[in-house]
Amino acid sequence: MNVLVYDNEEQIGIAAGNYMCGQVLAKPDSVLGLATGSTPLKPYGHMIKLYEQGAVDFSKVTTFNLDEYYPISRDNAQSYYYFMNEHFYSKVNLKPENIHIPNGQTDDVEAECSEYDALIEQSGGIDLQILGIGQNGHIGFNEPDSSLNSATHLTELSKSTIEANARFFDNEADVPKYALTMGMSTILKARKIVLLASGKSKHKALSELFDNSINTSVPATMLKIHPDVVVICDKEAYDGIDK
Ligand code: PGA
Repeated sequence: MNVLVYDNEEQIGIAAGNYMCGQVLAKPDSVLGLATGSTPLKPYGHMIKLYEQGAVDFSKVTTFNLDEYYPISRDNAQSYYYFMNEHFYSKVNLKPENIHIPNGQTDDVEAECSEYDALIEQSGGIDLQILGIGQNGHIGFNEPDSSLNSATHLTELSKSTIEANARFFDNEADVPKYALTMGMSTILKARKIVLLASGKSKHKALSELFDNSINTSVPATMLKIHPDVVVICDKEAYDGIDK
């Protein structure tokens, strides 16, 4: 696992945005795995800037997002589709038919999840997956548990995640209790992974990423078995971690 430590979120945004765009320059029809949350916002901003400057073209790129609340409609301002549209999809030249995110309105969760994994396979697999990390060590919505689900699935959000995400809602009670998420093996099949972490609140989870354990109670530790992970973080999240 490689780690790049920067002073602040601005620099994380430039580094991660360049890394993602570098992937697209090297392979114009790349399949990108995308994430929501506050940490990817600066990287998306930098990617949009590079697109506006004519430095990168997303017309052949396919995207798959990690997760979506359930149940939720796409036009609900709290949905991850809405978030992605506002902060990335609508700002670059991705083709609408190449954009994928789990359908938070599906009546048939099982079919939706297995079709999502099948679509990723059919598109050739994810070349580069961007990940945030939860304070509790979750990636996507793979929450700490005694065992983890490998495929895309419906999951119940942990208390810690509901508390952390309450900042996006008027009340904690409004945070959805369930989500559809890529599973661990869906994520680990990505050829490259970039994990972003910013701020003190991520320090504990990040420390566990750099110790010697692989533990389903900190799902991110499973990334240790992946051959190509880059962690892009800031000093606040990283300081004090002995690699
Ligand atoms: P954040 O979320 O970027 O908003 O901190 C990360 C996550 O929960 O995966």
